[in-house]
Amino acid sequence: MANELIANAVRNALRSVTIPGGGNLADYGGLSEIIVTQGAVAFAISVAHGMETAFAPARTAAQAAAEKVSEGRKVMVSLTSDRNQAATGQAKAQNRPGPAPREAVPGIRHIVAVGSGKGGVGKSTVAVNLALAFAAEGLRTGILDADLYGPSIPKLLGLEGKPAVREDGIFSPHQAFGLKAMSIGSMLTPGQAVVWRGPMATSALRQLLRETDWGGLDVLVVDLPPGTGDIQISLVQQVPLLGAVIISTPQDLALIDATKAMDMFLRTEVPILGIVENMSYFLAPDTGRRYDIFGHGGAHAAADNLGIPFLGEIPLVMQIRETSDAGRPVVATNPDSAEALPFRTIAKRLLAAQPAVRP
Ligand SMILES: Nc1ncnc2c1ncn2[C@@H]1O[C@H](COP(=O)(O)OP(=O)(O)OP(=O)(O)O)[C@@H](O)[C@H]1O
Ligand SMILES: [Mg+2]
Repeated sequence: MANELIANAVRNALRSVTIPGGGNLADYGGLSEIIVTQGAVAFAISVAHGMETAFAPARTAAQAAAEKVSEGRKVMVSLTSDRNQAATGQAKAQNRPGPAPREAVPGIRHIVAVGSGKGGVGKSTVAVNLALAFAAEGLRTGILDADLYGPSIPKLLGLEGKPAVREDGIFSPHQAFGLKAMSIGSMLTPGQAVVWRGPMATSALRQLLRETDWGGLDVLVVDLPPGTGDIQISLVQQVPLLGAVIISTPQDLALIDATKAMDMFLRTEVPILGIVENMSYFLAPDTGRRYDIFGHGGAHAAADNLGIPFLGEIPLVMQIRETSDAGRPVVATNPDSAEALPFRTIAKRLLAAQPAVRP
């Protein structure tokens, strides 16, 4: 059955699910759009803060109802109590306008977010090398470190000092290896403890995006913090994204977390451009022999299951870590090496699937 038909069937099935306070889930204002892909059905139920427990049985019933009509697709139902989303649900129910529409950043043609469910899976490493691979393809490329809680782009690109500020208060981004780069990290004094809460995170992100002289970019790669917090939500609410690339390690746990991250993008209507499996296998530095010690291939299978493109595998190799630590990323400093190749292949696959990104 076509995806739209499945979405209709799911909505119909949700009529049988009663919600606290009476009424059915299909008519409930807090029900998101029902997203159907080749392999997955996803929707979110947003409830007022404190109502999560009361809605839990409805969520379970919704999952079961959707599974009956989803023709084998994986069903992902999330229950959110984010204050903004609860407000959006109520606004929908009462025909009031929702949050401000997403507004493109003038001069930036496309924005690609790099996310993951779990920390430490190599998001920043992949984001930097992917951006460099885009630049190697001739694209005007920028990178934005949106990891306000643990920025790492300055180290990865060897950026020093703060970005210059023009007279009109607009930032001039750093330039490194042909990339324009901005990071909240370059604006903080080392060791300064930052506790960014929702609205502060939102406005910091807005400033980095809109008050920087990006000077015309084909693509801006955004390195996100792990998980699905304030920054991710505010990024998807502020700007239209070409899509998100999800990084996962082969371990099950990372994959389960990765699914949660994908769920967030799907229910905010951000396309998933694909999954990358990082630290996929171990390449012995002396012999070049490959060892599949991490149960490699898990991300590929999960991607196939979800009907999401699998973009490629990146081995665990010392040279990737060492060049990153030294601020000399491998795609820039040794572009033809075996270590750089997987990143360049992933960039090429992405561009082949998204031809509009090329100027
Ligand atoms: N393929 C790889 N081979 C070897 N080391 C790697 C590889 N990918 C990442 N690393 C190393 O793993 C560590 C974590 O990587 P990275 O900082 O990119 O992860 P992250 O997902 O951005 O983490 P965080 O969630 O903290 O932002 C770093 O030391 C990095 O150099
Ligand atoms: Mg990181």
